[in-house]
Amino acid sequence: MVSLAKGAGAWHYGQVTEKLLLMAAKIVAACGPAKPADAALRTELRSQHGLSRDDGREISGAVFAYHRWLGWLDRSKKLPVQVHQALQLDAAFRERPESFPESELRQAVPDWVAGQMEVTTAWLRELQGEPVLWLRARPGTGLDLATDLCDCRAAGGKHLGDALQYLGTQDLFRTAGFHAGKFELQDLSSQAVGWVCAPKPGETWWDACAGEGGKTLHLCDLMANKGRVWASDKAGWRLDQLKRRAARAGVFNYRTELWNGGAKPPTKTKFDGILVDAPCSGIGTWQRNPHARWTTQPADIAELAALQKKLLAHVIPSLKPGARLIYSVCTLTRAETTEVTEAISAEFPQLKPLPLVNPLSPTAPRATPLWLWPQDIGANGMFMAGWQAP
Ligand SMILES: C[S@@+](CC[C@H](N)C(=O)[O-])C[C@H]1O[C@@H](n2cnc3c(N)ncnc32)[C@H](O)[C@@H]1O
Repeated sequence: MVSLAKGAGAWHYGQVTEKLLLMAAKIVAACGPAKPADAALRTELRSQHGLSRDDGREISGAVFAYHRWLGWLDRSKKLPVQVHQALQLDAAFRERPESFPESELRQAVPDWVAGQMEVTTAWLRELQGEPVLWLRARPGTGLDLATDLCDCRAAGGKHLGDALQYLGTQDLFRTAGFHAGKFELQDLSSQAVGWVCAPKPGETWWDACAGEGGKTLHLCDLMANKGRVWASDKAGWRLDQLKRRAARAGVFNYRTELWNGGAKPPTKTKFDGILVDAPCSGIGTWQRNPHARWTTQPADIAELAALQKKLLAHVIPSLKPGARLIYSVCTLTRAETTEVTEAISAEFPQLKPLPLVNPLSPTAPRATPLWLWPQDIGANGMFMAGWQAP
C-alpha cells in the first residue's frame, strides 16, 4: 500500500499536498443530490484563481477517488482524512487490483443495486479503475486527429478508426482542433448508438431526447450533412448548447424543437428512423461519475422506467412504414432495459424486433437487445434495442 509521508510539516500524497487535500475535502462537502461532483468541482476550481492545471487535476482526482472508495472509508474520521484514505486505496488498487477480493468489491456500490441488475465481480472491478476518455473524430479523420493531438489510440475495427482513446493531459477544450470542430468528447458506447442507428444520407431522423446533441451531431455526420435530423428535448437550454456545438462542427442538417414527451409530437413529419436516448439512472456511467452511485435512489428507477415507456409509446405514431426505432439508455437495470422493451413489444405487437449489429463486435450475431458492459468495452455501459415498423 502506498504510504502517506508527512515531511517538513506538510502532508504529501503523490502530488497532493495538504492544501490540495483540504480543497478536495471542501468540494466533497459541497457535493449532494442537487450538486453533482463535477458541478461542485467546476464552481470551486473556477473561483480559485492562480491554481495550476496540475493542481486542478489532482483535486479532481481526489474528489472522484473519495466517491469511488466511499464504501471503504472510515466515516468517523474528518473529511480530509477520508479523502486521503481514498487516495491510498486508489493507488493500491492501481498497483494490485487482484488484492481486492470479490467480497470487498461489493462495497463499490450501494446494496440495493443487486436487486436491480446483475452485479458481477468483473463489473465492480471495472468500476474501481480509471475511466477512459474517448473522442469522436469527424468521419474519416481519426488518423489525422491522432497525429495532431498525440497520445491517442484508435479503438480499431470497421468504424472505429474515428473513435480515439485520449491518453494525454492537454485541456482538450482549449485545443485549436476542438474549436475548429474537428472532434467531440464522446464515450465509445455513445458513439456505438450512432453506428447502430446507421442513418443514411438523405433520410429524415428524429432524435427525440437530443439533450446537448452528442448523438444528434453524430447522426448528422453519418448522414454526410444530407437529409435532416429533428432534435427535440424538453430542456431548451440543452438545445441551445446543441446549436452552439453544431455551429462549431459546421453541421447544418438538423432542426431543434421543444418536446416534453407528450402524445403530441413536435411535427407531423414521419421519420425513416427515431432514436429515443431516454433519461435513465445512468448506472452505466458510474465509473466516470462515482458520486452518482450514492445519490441515485431505487425509487428513481421505477419513475424513469415509466417515463421511458411513455416516450417510446409517444414516438411510435411518427414512424414511416418500414422505419426503425432505436431505444438506448446508459444504464443496466432490468426495469429500464428488458422490462421496458418487453412492455413496448407487448403493447405494440405490430412492431417487429430489429436485430442489431454490435458495432464494437461486428462479427457477433445480430441481436436485440444489445448490451454493452463497461468491463467488455472499456467505456460506459449501454443498452440498446430496435424495432421496425410494419
Ligand atoms: C440521456 S439524455 C440525452 C443525451 C443526448 N441524447 C446526447 O447524446 O447528448 C436524456 C435527455 O432526455 C431529456 N428529457 C427528460 N425528460 C424528458 C421528457 N419528458 N421529454 C423529452 N425529453 C426529456 C433530458 O432533458 C435529457 O436531455
